[in-house]
Order: sequence, then C-alpha cells, then structure tokens
Amino acid sequence: MTTTASQEAFLQAFHAEYPAVTAEAFGRGHAPDGRSSYEILCDRVAGSMRVLDLGCGDGLLLEFLARRSGRQLAGVDLSPHSLALARRRPALSEAKLEEGRAQELPFADDSFDACVSHMALMLMSEIEQVASEVARVLSPGGVLACVVGGGAVGGEAYERFLALLRCTIEETPASQRIPALGDKRTRSREGLDEVLGPAGFTAVDWETVPIDLSAPGEQVWAAVSSLYDLGPLDRATLDRLREAFFAEVRDMTTSEGHVPCAFKIHLATARLR
Ligand SMILES: C[S@@+](CC[C@H](N)C(=O)[O-])C[C@H]1O[C@@H](n2cnc3c(N)ncnc32)[C@H](O)[C@@H]1O
Repeated sequence: MTTTASQEAFLQAFHAEYPAVTAEAFGRGHAPDGRSSYEILCDRVAGSMRVLDLGCGDGLLLEFLARRSGRQLAGVDLSPHSLALARRRPALSEAKLEEGRAQELPFADDSFDACVSHMALMLMSEIEQVASEVARVLSPGGVLACVVGGGAVGGEAYERFLALLRCTIEETPASQRIPALGDKRTRSREGLDEVLGPAGFTAVDWETVPIDLSAPGEQVWAAVSSLYDLGPLDRATLDRLREAFFAEVRDMTTSEGHVPCAFKIHLATARLR
C-alpha cells in the first residue's frame, strides 16, 4: 500500500468506529466572542451561495451553512460512516454529499463560490493536488476558508494531556502508532502560501483564535482522548493514560469539578485570483 493509501485507510477505519468524533469533541468549544470554530468558519463565507465542505465528516459545519436559505451545499469525505450521519440531518436533505477524495473532487469546474474545511485540510496528503482541485471547482474570485488545529493554548489541561500522550507514544510499540497524517505546511501561513500560491490563490489571511473547552473532567477527557493517536492504543495503555491525565489535572480542577482546557485554531482564508 502507498503511504497515501495507508493514511486514508487509517482515517476510514477510525471514522468507521467514531463517525462524529470531531463535532462531538469540539462542537461545544467557543472563542472569546462565544462562537464555535464551526460558526467562525461559517461566517467567513457569509456572502457565498454555492459552498463545498472538504472533509465534511458528519455535516455539522454544513448544517450551520444551511441556516442561510437558498444556499447550494455540497460535502465530500472519505468516510461513508460519517457521511451517513450527515445525510440524516434534515437541513442537508438537498445537499450533495459525496464519498470521495479531496484530491479528485467529484464536481464540475466552476461549481462553487466558496470551499470550506474544518479540521480536515491538515490531514490530507498530496496537498498540491488538493489545492489544484479546489481551484478547479471554485469560480474565479472564489474563497477557500479553512480551520486547522494550532495545538494547546498553554497552562491548561490540553497542554498537559499532549505531554502525557507524547511520553505514551514514545513507549508504545510501532504497531500501536498511527501513520503520519497530512502535510505540515497546512499548519502555517508560509506553508499554505507555498501550497496555494501556485494553484492561483492570493496570499493567505491568517488568524489564530483560542477555543475554550473547559468543562467537567470527564467531558474534557472525552474531548482530548478523541485524538487519532489514541485509536490504536490497547485498553491497558488507554486506562493508564486516563489515570495519569486525571492525576495531572487535579491541581487545576475547580471545587465544582471544572477543568480548564483550551486549544488554538488557525483560520486561513485565500481567494482564487
Ligand atoms: C477531523 S475530521 C473533521 C470532520 C469535520 N470537518 C468536522 O470538523 O467535524 C477530518 C475529516 O476529513 C476527512 N478526510 C481526511 N482526508 C480526506 C481526503 N483526502 N478527502 C476527503 N476527506 C478527507 C476524514 O474522513 C474526516 O471525516
């Protein structure tokens, strides 16, 4: 199997088991202005009527987009299980939801005014091919707006969880490690410019926003433990990680049992020339 094929096989298998994992973990997170990362992204394409969601998962972002009436919506994802959940959303009954790869979009040239992607672009390999496909299906002047993960804010539970996870993975046999996913250039403004510029996009507008996920401990654990890296870990390793996590955040847990937790998102927007 090629590297790309094994990455995509991993993603498909993971989402067969956890088809709504991202929306469940991060949908309730909120920025300082109270909006979720999904709503922030939705607002970035407020004026666009034909919108494609790349790596749409279970369709939460598309549901926000559907609140504007008259919009033509489409989504593409590798995971048939996540798409099955998206198809169950009444607001998406008219949306074109296709199983497929962002590297070979099943849509005609000039089909969309905007393309959005929430926590998915950063997982995609052959990223130049994705950029050229997005440019093909967008109309001239169309917008690409993406949210990519930016790591921990610091001084809260997610930072401590990531440190524990790093140690756990180092001690874990290779058979329980996930393949390297995506292209790290999608995680920086300079990297994205390098990818998107040759496909015909303007320089990337880049904004970093903290997203608060503070909640009762069990809810914070559910969010942080939804990362792909935990998928292949065996039960005993998971139990040890969970125990270590709760010990690690004890000193920051409030008397009501709330644990401070936050992560950063990068919001990248570029326009097709
Ligand atoms: C972290 S999930 C995010 C799902 C959804 N956008 C959300 O934020 O709720 C990433 C999604 O991207 C999809 N994905 C990853 N690589 C893809 C590719 N090359 N083409 C299409 N979908 C892809 C995965 O199947 C998965 O559903």
